[in-house]
Amino acid sequence: MRIDIITVLPELLKSPFDASILKRAIEAGLVEVHFHNLRDYTKGSYKAVDDTQFGGGAGMVMLIEPIDKCITKLQSERNYDEIIYMTPDGERLNQSIANQTSLKENIIILCGHYKGVDQRVRDKFITREISIGDYVLSGGELGAAVICDSVIRLIPGVLGNETSALTDSFQDNLLAPPIYTRPREYDGMKVPEVLFSGNFAEIEKWREEQAYQRTLERRPDLLED
Ligand code: ADE
Repeated sequence: MRIDIITVLPELLKSPFDASILKRAIEAGLVEVHFHNLRDYTKGSYKAVDDTQFGGGAGMVMLIEPIDKCITKLQSERNYDEIIYMTPDGERLNQSIANQTSLKENIIILCGHYKGVDQRVRDKFITREISIGDYVLSGGELGAAVICDSVIRLIPGVLGNETSALTDSFQDNLLAPPIYTRPREYDGMKVPEVLFSGNFAEIEKWREEQAYQRTLERRPDLLED
């Protein structure tokens, strides 16, 4: 998989890709991530990427021209399956969107800034608009990092144990059950006996019940879905 991220703040985005699972995935060649600084596609010494809003109103709007130049250049080099725009008015990111995106070959993620981009960018290029939650960030960069993390860990071979992404919370629309490790007892708090039974059918049944119970208590909306 190849991910091209278009941003005015590449330096804000780089560190999540330089540690742990994402770094290993890139080093193993399972994913390529490329950053494109929108200012490299501007003209004039001021390198403007935004301007005031037609019709008046506070806040700057990102210009279509540098974005057009950047996306058109990328599209001349390869086909893209998805061009995602990060925006608080997009569909809210969930595990299903992460799963779908992890199956794509090449994607572009455009990070918005200021008030957002000229509507014509959205009309001309964008195939999917994604929000990471009902709050407004200063820009789409942190959201882009969140999407990339949720997607890259699903690419086969990225996680050591192939099955572990399948048992994450939200796969099957259920939250994950409680988990334990050593010691067996800590400060009077004991690990549930069933986990030592050696009976894997029993253990699986217990985990399913716990997952269901936790989902019912914390996120009943997931069960309605
Ligand atoms: N840009 C600003 N706020 C955002 C959000 N909540 N999700 C995605 N991109 C954003």
